Amino acid sequence: MKIDVLTLFPEMFVPVKTSMLGKAEEKGILEIRLTDIRDFSNNKHKKTDDYPFGGGGGMVMMPDPIFGALEHIGAKGKKIIYMSPRGKVLDEEKVKELSQLDDLVILCGHYEGVDQRVLDYWEAEEVSIGDYVLTGGELPAMVLIDSVARLLPGVLGNENSAMEESIYSGLLEHPQYTQPREYEGMPVPEVLLNGNHKLIEEWKFRQALRLTKARRPEMFEAFIADRERFTKAEKKIIDEVLSYGDEVLKDDAE
Ligand SMILES: C[S@@+](CC[C@H](N)C(=O)[O-])C[C@H]1O[C@@H](n2cnc3c(N)ncnc32)[C@H](O)[C@@H]1O
Repeated sequence: MKIDVLTLFPEMFVPVKTSMLGKAEEKGILEIRLTDIRDFSNNKHKKTDDYPFGGGGGMVMMPDPIFGALEHIGAKGKKIIYMSPRGKVLDEEKVKELSQLDDLVILCGHYEGVDQRVLDYWEAEEVSIGDYVLTGGELPAMVLIDSVARLLPGVLGNENSAMEESIYSGLLEHPQYTQPREYEGMPVPEVLLNGNHKLIEEWKFRQALRLTKARRPEMFEAFIADRERFTKAEKKIIDEVLSYGDEVLKDDAE
């Protein structure tokens, strides 16, 4: 997958060139190309923003440098996303949809955002990462890239693991433990140490249900809506969790 990022601050993109995403680029699974919008300013001071028409505070990114950058990378016909708090909030469905693409272009705004004519002409889709406002689109773009990239085959060590995780599985993930078996008087739940895979899977399922019921009731309801898809043993655990009160987060490990 090729991802083009248009930004005024290409130097910020260290996180997506590091760790698993850096390895994905080395393996040729992913290519992240950074384009500095400022390079396409025809202004002698390399200016990329100006005052908004109609007044109001702040500055707006001018269309010309962004048009120049989009033309330079050959964005016509590619999916273009503008990171924006006005967009629909990013979710697993959108991440999966974007991970199917061969090419993606991401535009990062700054100041008060970009001139509307950029979005209209290039038919950019606005995507938000949540209902809060950041100073620029670079961190949101990195969130989007990371979430999309980890769904590309070969990026994660274990290809199945993405779908087993919180949200994708339809539930929040059960708690995880590693060495040592006891830390500062806190033992790892006994069931995880006894090698009984059936009991371990039941424990994981019960814990995931409990967490989801407590923290994301709407996700829990959606997960259990079609009861026919569950085995008898799973139904029993679901009924048990449904009988709990609001104290479900206390870990009893039985
Ligand atoms: C200060 S914000 C501009 C906010 C804009 N004036 C508004 O009210 O919608 C500057 C830039 O940060 C990025 N940004 C800020 N918050 C964001 C969010 N929640 N999701 C995605 N991008 C965001 C966008 O690229 C935006 O152009």
